[in-house]
Amino acid sequence: MIREIIELEGPNPYGRRLEFYEEGKVLGYINYSLIYDRMELDNIYVDESRRKEGIGKKLLGYLVAVAIDSHVINITLEVRVSNEIARNLYKQFGFREVALRRFYYGDEDGILMEKQVM
Ligand SMILES: CC(C)(COP(=O)(O)OP(=O)(O)OC[C@H]1O[C@@H](n2cnc3c(N)ncnc32)[C@H](O)[C@@H]1OP(=O)(O)O)[C@@H](O)C(=O)NCCC(=O)NCCS
Repeated sequence: MIREIIELEGPNPYGRRLEFYEEGKVLGYINYSLIYDRMELDNIYVDESRRKEGIGKKLLGYLVAVAIDSHVINITLEVRVSNEIARNLYKQFGFREVALRRFYYGDEDGILMEKQVM
């Protein structure tokens, strides 16, 4: 099951969250920002003991559906160059690598990825 959480308090007024849960336990989540007509994926995480079961794909598929419903132009995100697992996951969902951001993570470059929605 996936539930949507809109964080009305906190540092990011655009911040929202999707949680994948089973029997009351949160097994994975996506933090994202819905900023008018754009969406930013801030983080996706799945409990280590439950990876490779498709939870990440369920969360990302749900996020894309929310993006379509919200009529956003695109979804963007940054990912570490070394994070091949996440880069593969995003590519499966139609994200393209559009720019290299040097030292985005301080110790490592980031890749800006984008999925066109509208
Ligand atoms: C990235 C992450 C969310 C994926 O979650 P998951 O539930 O394990 O992913 P899924 O089981 O839905 O797998 C989705 C796809 O990810 C990729 N993937 C998952 N595990 C992989 C692995 N060990 N090696 C290569 N690709 C892998 C594959 O493309 C996979 O699709 P496939 O099974 O059809 O090949 C999870 O690994 C995680 O929490 N990582 C730590 C946090 C992180 O790096 N987040 C990204 C920050 S930008």
